[in-house]
Amino acid sequence: MTSSAKSPAKTRVLTGITTSGTPHLGNYAGAIRPAIQSSTEPGVDAFFFLADFHALIKCADPARVAQSRMEIAATWIAGGLDTDRVTFYRQSDVPEIPELCWMLTCVTAKGLMNRAHAYKASVDANALKGVDPDDGVTMGLFSYPVLMAADILMFNAHRVPVGRDQIQHLEMARDIAQRFNHLYGRGSDLFVLPEVQIDEDVATLPGLDGRKMSKSYNNTIPLFEGGAKALKTAVAQIVTDSRLPGEPKDAEGSHLFTLYRAFATARQAADFRAALEGGLGWGDAKQALCERIEAQIGPMRAQYADLMAHPERVEDILRAGAEKARRIAMPFMDQLREAVGLRQPAAAARSKSAAGKAAKARLVSFRDEDGRFRQRLFAADGTELLLTEPFADPKLLNQLGRSVAQTDLSALRADADGLVSLEADGQCWARCPADLVARVQQALAAL
Ligand code: TRP
Repeated sequence: MTSSAKSPAKTRVLTGITTSGTPHLGNYAGAIRPAIQSSTEPGVDAFFFLADFHALIKCADPARVAQSRMEIAATWIAGGLDTDRVTFYRQSDVPEIPELCWMLTCVTAKGLMNRAHAYKASVDANALKGVDPDDGVTMGLFSYPVLMAADILMFNAHRVPVGRDQIQHLEMARDIAQRFNHLYGRGSDLFVLPEVQIDEDVATLPGLDGRKMSKSYNNTIPLFEGGAKALKTAVAQIVTDSRLPGEPKDAEGSHLFTLYRAFATARQAADFRAALEGGLGWGDAKQALCERIEAQIGPMRAQYADLMAHPERVEDILRAGAEKARRIAMPFMDQLREAVGLRQPAAAARSKSAAGKAAKARLVSFRDEDGRFRQRLFAADGTELLLTEPFADPKLLNQLGRSVAQTDLSALRADADGLVSLEADGQCWARCPADLVARVQQALAAL
């Protein structure tokens, strides 16, 4: 079986992170931490990448894209990602991805893309504004799901952990993979159909105002940026109710407790809850929350700062990751080019070159029973043209052959037996029938 869709022994888990923002506490607890955790499980072969091509769809600010790439890469590394174990790379370092994206684009129905939520949301918003339905919609936005499918299918990922908003994109990736398999698979699937993975038990952190923590709500708590001080400033802004110190608090109903729980053991969370219900003041509770978060992320912050101060270290890690990724992507892309007809099938190319070899004249050396060296000359069609005289010195044999090849053989005369003596430097290299001389000359020239 030659198909790359055959399951590797391990489960390939792959996810991408769009490099257009600065990681906040919600990203960390909801995506980065669980992903790093799952990458250490036995049987998991994890692929994590910086989706910087996707960033261009959302963000036309080069400085932001560059800064975000650094921050996100440094966050994952400082967060404990073992970059030797996993494959951690930058999408734009793997040129096979955009190449695959084009192949997939050519089998993707436009109607399928018309139904994408993100695109439809733009169209609906334009309708409300009374402007052209496609106002502000780029081809990048429209084709976003195809690029995402290429990310996933390039590595034949089995599982793709994402947020709920990405479920439709995964369904589209499966659709596109199926279509491609059907068109080009010739009976064996080229692509694995990826499964979406939604982690129900992973924390969705509330932001400062209680809504989901998100950059778009402007309610985030920074992860590393700004240090412990920025963390403290943000935590101070968490909205609480107006109960005073000494009054029992509704722990379950407070965002502050939800945040605390995301960074605490079950035991620590139970203690904190009891303290709140026992009347702990919100000021003290915020102090405790800061300490709890700091206990987990404080130790990583030094490494984060160090990486941010040395971008070349991050670049080295990303480059090594891209090399690792391309060791998979390059041969698979050869197979895909062949499948769609952009390249000669490897097997045919090989047998053709084998035939090409056979179609060439050959001079074959060997030792005879006396231990002396001789050569046989074969024409391109395999006909044996001559057998040389025996020589004790193989170098002399070779050298005479080369000299004969330089000589104009048509001037030579046959002897009484009808044989022509092919000589150089006064020595006979070989004798051959006169009627073969022209072919010998041709064969020698072709060597
Ligand atoms: N679209 C994803 C997001 O916004 C990011 C992403 C790009 C991705 N390519 C991917 C996720 C491939 C999983 C697999 O979250």
